[in-house]
Amino acid sequence: MIKTCLLGMGKAGSVVAEKILNSYEFDLLSVVCKPGSQKTGTPIKNYLNTDSNLLITNADSLVEECKRKRFQLAIDFTTPEATLKNAPLLAEKGVHLVIGTNGFSNHQLRQLKDLVQDYRIGLVYAPNLAVGINLLLSIVKTIARLIPNYQVEITEAENPSETLSHSGTAIKIADDIKIIKEAVRKNRYKLGHREDISKIVSFSTLPTEKNGFHKVRFTGESEEIEILHRSNSAAIYAEGAIKAAAFIQNLKGFYHMEDVLLLERMDRDFRLATNRLYLNFN
Ligand SMILES: NC(=O)c1ccc[n+]([C@@H]2O[C@H](COP(=O)([O-])OP(=O)(O)OC[C@H]3O[C@@H](n4cnc5c(N)ncnc54)[C@H](OP(=O)(O)O)[C@@H]3O)[C@@H](O)[C@H]2O)c1
Repeated sequence: MIKTCLLGMGKAGSVVAEKILNSYEFDLLSVVCKPGSQKTGTPIKNYLNTDSNLLITNADSLVEECKRKRFQLAIDFTTPEATLKNAPLLAEKGVHLVIGTNGFSNHQLRQLKDLVQDYRIGLVYAPNLAVGINLLLSIVKTIARLIPNYQVEITEAENPSETLSHSGTAIKIADDIKIIKEAVRKNRYKLGHREDISKIVSFSTLPTEKNGFHKVRFTGESEEIEILHRSNSAAIYAEGAIKAAAFIQNLKGFYHMEDVLLLERMDRDFRLATNRLYLNFN
């Protein structure tokens, strides 16, 4: 079993902890909260649906804890500042990392990449661990490449009280589609086409009391395609974290969720295929 440490046992970390406790592949040896936390020294069974007596520690004793328990892997759901303090201490000991925490600046992300270089560890950086959302992103990119002249509308519905949601997802979908439309347009201009296929990608966020969703609609002159992802439980993040952890345990390097789900590879092959397709068409 993989000796695992969980950093952060807030809303996301708690769901992940339950998932790890129920898995045969991972051995949850430590749960770490913030220095001075009232949770320090209390058993995780006080907070989770488990009978485990594992005591929660805090980040002040992380190095000691790591030496004693010899973690192989750490999963992080804290804050960017906490990650940048804790991750180097673990990387130095050769611990592989799955970072689910959100909100890193480009500079902070560079620091995470440097850890991978400096300590030759494996790291999955996954601001969105939901498997279905990553699939939606990949499918939407594929459609955008095949029918770049269709208008795109992205709708995101989020529960205002649901902090596990990702307002950045709609922006990521929009950005990816814009990049594809721009690349296809340039390619066609280069080949002598005059049609203007660059249409505006619009997106909106709706409040919802129920489970959130992301919907992408492609509209052509005589047809529409809609791709919808609805999140039914916060466990989607935990399932993604487990997949990422299993992926990175024996690898070195910096990876994304697209790598974990083999979507990056599919996307690359498809990009090459569509480039050839456009050249043949022209
Ligand atoms: N990648 C994804 O798909 C995904 C999904 C959900 C959430 N997230 C992200 O995960 C992060 C956590 O979200 P959340 O909703 O669980 O937040 P949260 O409920 O506020 O929990 C944060 C946790 O971090 C701990 N913490 C704070 N500072 C720490 C430190 N210096 N060392 C160790 N632990 C520390 C806190 O400890 P105490 O318990 O002692 O306060 C708490 O347990 C956010 O960035 C969120 O956006 C990502």
